[in-house]
Amino acid sequence: MKNFQIALIPGDGIGPEVVAEGVKVLQAIEGMDASISFSFTTFPWGCEYYLQHGKMMDDDGLEQLKPFDAIYLGAVGYPGVPDHISLRDLLIKIRKQFDQYVNLRPVTLLHSSLTPLKAKTEKDIDFLVIRENSEGEYAGAGDWLYKGMPEEVVLQTGVFSRKGTERIIRYAYEEARESNRTLTSVSKGNALNYSMVFWDEVFAEVGKEYPDVKTYSYLVDAASLYFVTNPERFEIVVTSNLFGDILTDIGAAITGGMGLATGANVNPEKTFPSMFEPVHGSAPDIAGKGIANPLAAIWSISQLMDFFEEGQWGRAILHTIKRMLEDKEQLTPDLGGKASTSEVGDQFVELLKRLT
Ligand code: NAI
Ligand code: MG
Repeated sequence: MKNFQIALIPGDGIGPEVVAEGVKVLQAIEGMDASISFSFTTFPWGCEYYLQHGKMMDDDGLEQLKPFDAIYLGAVGYPGVPDHISLRDLLIKIRKQFDQYVNLRPVTLLHSSLTPLKAKTEKDIDFLVIRENSEGEYAGAGDWLYKGMPEEVVLQTGVFSRKGTERIIRYAYEEARESNRTLTSVSKGNALNYSMVFWDEVFAEVGKEYPDVKTYSYLVDAASLYFVTNPERFEIVVTSNLFGDILTDIGAAITGGMGLATGANVNPEKTFPSMFEPVHGSAPDIAGKGIANPLAAIWSISQLMDFFEEGQWGRAILHTIKRMLEDKEQLTPDLGGKASTSEVGDQFVELLKRLT
């Protein structure tokens, strides 16, 4: 019997609404698979907590999270608390301190009706973006000089360490080798004459150890174009923190939008817990209405099961989402349906049980 300890951080807005549905799925798996059990501990951190306690999480919050096998997070951020505080003091802190340097974002079209791209189908849009998640353009290094004066200057420094660059690129090569897929590096060496020239060098250097992996290198502007015009070019993409952030939103746009985009923040060495979350935010515009789409959060559970090396469940969840998408009526309004968040969760669990 494997017991997985999961820390739940439902967070703000629709976060708790969609996390509840993800937990339903885990409980269903526990019911069907005698070899797996989960225990859950919920942490009340987020913006409401901030307004009461003046901080996004407990001072020893990271210590509290450390013993868990994984963190399942909804979303953080809400009007009334500046976004740079809510994101930096909770999400980014966890990603950084727990060395979750790999961000895995699938760009997979699960149903052809979901893409705005003309004549593209499931077989054209099916790739994985591996985004550097610990440094780069989001390292938070820089300066703000002569604030408010005519001479005002701000510096935002990209930090690309050899260790940080090499390990993400190596992770991507390993993934490409294991799954027998091509690897595309996305950078911008023509304009960013230090960081991205270095990135390209490391990509070529590490590549010498993987002669069996077929590689491509694109500039980020061209890659943005190809995401839309030729998504079938991509199988695995490795890129920096900023470029990955932007490209994966294009990825979400071509595969059905925010209600379906997921991302795993992984510490591959398992020294610290990894974190699984839908990509979307707290959606204050629809929070409390019971209409948030839980499928992105459920897809995160698929990634979580893969991470736990229970790939049969990861695949079963994905397959069930595909089946759900065949009937619009049973989906939430963002996907053209009339169902509520919890109805989608219940229906999902029913279908998962029927299909496995
Ligand atoms: P958002 O993703 O919350 O919402 C953007 C649009 O997508 C809204 O119209 C929303 O209704 C819709 N949407 C998002 N998720 C949906 C779902 N599951 N079902 C149906 N519709 C959905 O992004 P926004 O509005 O820019 O940010 C709102 C707050 O969330 C901010 O405080 C922001 O900082 C935070 N945020 C947090 C993230 C995280 O926790 N990882 C990521 C992005 C934003
Ligand atoms: Mg983003």
